[in-house]
Order: sequence, then C-alpha cells, then structure tokens
Amino acid sequence: MCGIFGYVTNKDEALGPILIEAAKRLTYRGYDSVGAATINNGKIDLRKDVGKVDVVAAKYNIAEMRGQRGITQLRWATFGEPSQVNSQPHLDSDGDMVGAHNGNVVNNVELREQFMAEGMTVRSQNDGETCVHAVERYINRGYQFIDAIRLAYGDLQGDYAFVIGRADDDKLYAFKKGSGMVVGLGEGFTCVSSDLPSILPLTRSVIRPQDGEIVTLWADKVEVRSVKDGKLIDRQPELVTETMDAVQKGGYPHFMLKEIHEQGQVARELLHLLDGSPDVAPLVEKMKNARHLYLIGCGTSYHAASVGAVYFAQLAGRAAIPVLAPQFIAQYAPAVNHDDVGIFVSQSGETKDVLNALEAAEKRGMACFGLANVVGSTLTRATSFCLPLCCGYEISVPATKTFTNQVVTFLYLAYRLAGMGPSTSLDDHSLRSGRHVLDSIPDLMEQTLSMVGPQIETIARDINEWNDMYCLGYGATYAIALEGALKLKEITYAHCEGMLSTEFKHGPLSAVSKGFPIVFAAGPNDVPLIISGINEVKVRGARTIVIAEEDARLRANGDDLVVLPKSDPQVNALLAVLPLQLLSYHMSVMRGFDPDFPRNLSKTLTVD
Ligand code: AGP
Repeated sequence: MCGIFGYVTNKDEALGPILIEAAKRLTYRGYDSVGAATINNGKIDLRKDVGKVDVVAAKYNIAEMRGQRGITQLRWATFGEPSQVNSQPHLDSDGDMVGAHNGNVVNNVELREQFMAEGMTVRSQNDGETCVHAVERYINRGYQFIDAIRLAYGDLQGDYAFVIGRADDDKLYAFKKGSGMVVGLGEGFTCVSSDLPSILPLTRSVIRPQDGEIVTLWADKVEVRSVKDGKLIDRQPELVTETMDAVQKGGYPHFMLKEIHEQGQVARELLHLLDGSPDVAPLVEKMKNARHLYLIGCGTSYHAASVGAVYFAQLAGRAAIPVLAPQFIAQYAPAVNHDDVGIFVSQSGETKDVLNALEAAEKRGMACFGLANVVGSTLTRATSFCLPLCCGYEISVPATKTFTNQVVTFLYLAYRLAGMGPSTSLDDHSLRSGRHVLDSIPDLMEQTLSMVGPQIETIARDINEWNDMYCLGYGATYAIALEGALKLKEITYAHCEGMLSTEFKHGPLSAVSKGFPIVFAAGPNDVPLIISGINEVKVRGARTIVIAEEDARLRANGDDLVVLPKSDPQVNALLAVLPLQLLSYHMSVMRGFDPDFPRNLSKTLTVD
C-alpha cells in the first residue's frame, strides 16, 4: 500500500532528513519504490527510483535536499510496473507542480488518454501522475489553484489520498477519497500523511480530514474546505495518545487482527478497481472461449481458486479446474495446449511451486494470466497480464485480506462471465442481482465481523484445550472449510482437518469422542445436508459449531450457531471464512503464540 507524506515549514530547512525519516516510518505499509520532492524558493527538486529507502536516499543524496515544502512517497505498484518513471512524486507537463498519491485512481487509463489528447506531457502509467494532470487540466483552463483542485477531485474516481504543491505558492494542498489521511500541526511546521506513524514523532496534534474536503497547509496553520462549495469547515485538532506500535497496528494488538478488519475496505477498493480495469474484458473473453480453464495456486490461494471454480459453475455454467500448482505439473501440464487458459493465483507472486507450474504451462503454449497482490513480482511480470488484488501490504504470515479479495475477484469474474458489464447498473433487470450482490459485499463483511466477534472469542476459549479438530463444508463452503482448517493449523499448531462434510462418515467419524470440536460452514441451500452431518457426529459426542445464516433447523440441531448476515449463497461462503479467521486468531493468542509470525513458516515460499 503506497504512503504519502508532505511537510511545510517557514524556514529554509534541510528537508531531506525529515523526508527520509518519514518515508522510513511508512515502510511497514509495503513498497517497491521511493521518491522525494522539495520546493526551494520557487524551484522543484525531484529525486526517485525503485528500491529501498536507504538505497534510493543514498543513490540520489536525498539528505542534501532543502526547501520550504517537501513531499515523499513510497510506492506499492498497482498501475504500471515498479520503475523510475512510475515512481512518485510526479510533475505536471511544465514542471511547475509536483504531487503524489496513495491508493488507486480507477479511471486512470481513460483520464491519461484525455490528458494526452489535451496536449499534456504524460510520462508514466502511474495514477499518481494522473492526479497531478487532473489539477493541471483546470489550471490550463484558467481556474485558480484551489478551484482546479476542487474540479480535479470530481474527475478522479477511486480510493486515494493526494498531496500537491506548486513552485510559486507557499502552501501544500491535500485531499482524500476513501483512503485515510491525517494532518499534523507542529511548532513552525505542518504536515500531512496517509497515516499516523510518519507524523507521530513530529507532533501529536492532528486533524483527520474527511472525504470531500481539501486541506491547505501553511507552515503555521491549516484550512479545511468543502470540495462541493469551497466553504471553510471548522475542524479543531485532537491530541493522539497511542504508542507508535499500537498506531502501526491500527490500534489492534496484532497485524493479523488489523488485516482481518481491513477486509471490507480492501474489497470495496478492489471492486472499484475491477470496474475500471481494461484487463477484465479480455480475460473474461479468454475464459469463455477456453477449452479447459485451470485455476492454479498453493495454500490459501488454492482455496480461493477452489471457491472460484464453484462460483464459475454456479453463476456462469463455466467449468473450471482448481488445482494445486505442483499437481498441475504432474496431472494436467502434459495434456494442455494453446486452447486452454490458466489463471495463476498468488498473494506474493513469488511462490516457486506456482512459478514452476507457470513454466510448465507456458512450454505447452497455454494462455497464462495472473491474480497477485504484489505487482512487480515474478508472476506479474511473467504472465500476459495479472489482475492486482489491491490489498496493500499483508504483513501477517497467515493470509486473510488477500484470500477474501481473491474470492471477491473470482465472484466478480463469475458475474462478468455470466454477462454483467463493468457499468451494469441497478436498473438493468437481468443483471441487477450480480451488481447488487457485489456492491453489498464490503458492508456485509464489516457487519459479519462485528456480529460474530464476542461469540467466537467464547468458543475459542471453550475448545482451546483440543489439539485435534475438523472443519467441514459443502459446495462453495467446502474450500472455506479447507481455508479455516489451514488458518487453525498455521497459527495454533493444533491439527485441524478441512473436509467435505459428506466425506466425514467415510472414515474420520471414528475419531469422534465426547466434546470433540467440529465446525460446519453451512450455505443456505445446503442446510438439510449439513444437518445430517451434524447429527452423525453429535450422537457420538462431538461439539458442533455451525457458521450459517440464522436458521431454526440449524439452531435446533447444532450446539453453537454463529450467525452470519443474510446474503446470497456465494457471498455467504465468503463471509463464513471471517469467523474462522477470528477463531484461529483467538486460539493462537490464548495459547501464547504470535499469530503474525508462526514458527517454521515464512510469508513467501521461494523454494521447491
Ligand atoms: C496462507 O495463510 C499461507 N501463508 C500459505 O498457505 C500461502 O497461501 C501459500 O504459501 C501460497 O502463497 P502465495 O499466495 O503467496 O502464492
């Protein structure tokens, strides 16, 4: 996830060290490129490149940069590969303005085309540059700077925060839409950033601007204005008291819990991005016409692929084969050809097993596409094109938000396969339900987390003595059960097996004893089947924990019913993973383990 920081002072200061330190405090968000710009007595100095903060700072001697206003940005690639030209900050056509953003401008491609047609110099593919030209467009049309910014806000769609300065102006300007942004007020300076950690060592006096507000920063004051009418808004500073560690974790005790709670927002951002992505339509076309369609990944990414295959069949009547990457090499690679399509799914984009499968598929001429979180990773460079998962940096080893955004992407693709367009509106009756279902996901995820939280903590305490358990599902919730079991194994070190609920009677039933915990994820269409499963194990003494929508039959048969909000069957499966993530998190913490960094595991597996 990119990070921005802007600083305004009334002295002629050595801004370089201030910008480097601020950039270092943003690194926990994840990044691939670094840049800094200063405005010194009317002259803009811009230095940026791909690489770590220390390396880029040393290479370009950022420490020597001076001025009265400075901007630094850490980039996490989404639009355009990691490269010097795509690094931020960016200049306008004549080099009179400099700006940087974090987040995603989803109409980036069409705006860039408009700017080029209007004669502006567009140097990169990056949407941060698009933000600068969006302001430039209205300056060229004769608007005052603040009005140009107000109009640019209306043109830039997506979720982002943006800061911009002009060579002949003593202020910086910032605004946000969807993403976070904080303004700091200190002695003789003000600053603005994507989040608190880069501000805290400088000042604890902050203002939190809202969407639809523009902040103007002088060295000794800030003004907040409404984008709509340009009128001043009275916003008093507040004092932040949390520690730096707590702030980096967003106030949560662990990154895993923070990332679990980010899932609604990253899903929201992903859906905006997919609607604006030029890569979706060609991918859907390829998938439609494929002889065989393979969804290939490992671990959690494989589970997302497995949920995706159910969505494709249920919503679009399109068969897809989910397969673990190494098994793809043995079982399918010898039989594929150029009529087949493979989607390679990976959070890191660096998993060796996945890259080996990609190599085997490419040798046979299969059309290969990717779905990855880390843009610029090997997978994103090696496939024809790769849809970004848009989750920002996932720090905790157990994948959570990247899993749900993989599943959301598959659901989106399933609806597109079924005929929904990127801008299908709620007025289009035939496809209205797809649009409605997708749009409801972020809120439903947030609602689920607040509904199930305390109950899951109680259940975790109750079953925490067990080192052996099962997690069962059927249809779309089958792979959710596999994912829940993987999370439990990964961070509690207990054995938990995920299984198709109907398979349990074919063997594992013999393991059941009094109190043996078995979790069922029950889709709304599978209730009678799940009830048979519940009773099979209950009469043998198991404790049954059911994750489902409110249902009198399930309540009467199971021991615990963890209630999900009412939704479509496909979304129900997605929501069912949230209590399972929380269950594993709480059990891990109760056992005294660190869920963010489980023993023996690493976030990226670059070995065979
Ligand atoms: C998930 O919690 C695990 N850390 C692991 O199973 C992971 O999903 C797997 O190693 C694949 O990684 P990738 O998505 O980066 O390819």
